[in-house]
Amino acid sequence: MTVMIIAIDGPAASGKGTLARRLAAYFGYHYLDTGLLYRAVARDCLELGHDLNDTRAVTTLACSLDPVRLDDAGLRAPGIGEAASIVAKIPEVRAALLEYQRSFANRLPGAILDGRDIGTVVCPDADAKIFVTASVEERAKRRFREYEAAGESPDMEKMLELIRARDARDAGRGAAPMRRAEDADLLDTTEMDIETAFDAAVGLIKRKIGQ
Ligand code: DC
Repeated sequence: MTVMIIAIDGPAASGKGTLARRLAAYFGYHYLDTGLLYRAVARDCLELGHDLNDTRAVTTLACSLDPVRLDDAGLRAPGIGEAASIVAKIPEVRAALLEYQRSFANRLPGAILDGRDIGTVVCPDADAKIFVTASVEERAKRRFREYEAAGESPDMEKMLELIRARDARDAGRGAAPMRRAEDADLLDTTEMDIETAFDAAVGLIKRKIGQ
C-alpha cells in the first residue's frame, strides 16, 4: 500500500486550514497544520525573550522543538502568526523543521499537510496539490470577523495592512517562498462559502488521485 500525500498551500486567511482539516476527516488521512511548527518556534522564542531575527537562538529552538506541544491553543493567536512569519524567513529554521514534516507526510494511509511550501519544497512529489487563495479584501474581511467573534473591535484598514504585509513577507523571502507549485490546482475561494470550497477541493483531489 502506498502513502497518499496531499499538499494544501496558500496565503494567510485563505481558508486553507479549515479546508485541509475537513479534507483529512473526509479522506481518513492524518493532518498536519505546518504553520503550527513555525508558531511554536516563535512562541518559544518570545517566551525566552530572544530576538525573532536572532538566527542562532531561533535555530537552536527549532532544532529542539517538541511537536507534542503543538496543541497549545495560544499558538493560534494573531500575534504569534506574525512572529511565526518572521522566524520562518530563516533558512536554518526551515531546514530544522523539514524532516519532521516529511516523516509525518509518510504515514499510512495518507496525510494532508497545509502551509506555504508543501507542494514546492516539503512534498514536491505529493499526489495532489491545491493552492488555496482569495482576494486580499476578502481575506481581510474573514480576519475581521474572526477578531469580532473573539470579542475584539478590529479595524478594517489595519486588517488589510496586516494581510498585505504578511503576504509580502511570506512570498518575498529567499528560503522556500510561498508560491503555487507548477502542478498545483488553483482554488480561488473569494466567492465561495466553506461548503462550496470543500466540494471543489474534494473534486480536484479525486481527479488527481483517481478515486
Ligand atoms: O499558516 P499560518 O498562518 O499558521 O502560518 C504562520 C506563518 O508561518 C506564516 O505566515 C509563514 C510561516 N509558515 C511557513 O513559512 N511555511 C509553512 N509551511 C507554514 C507556515
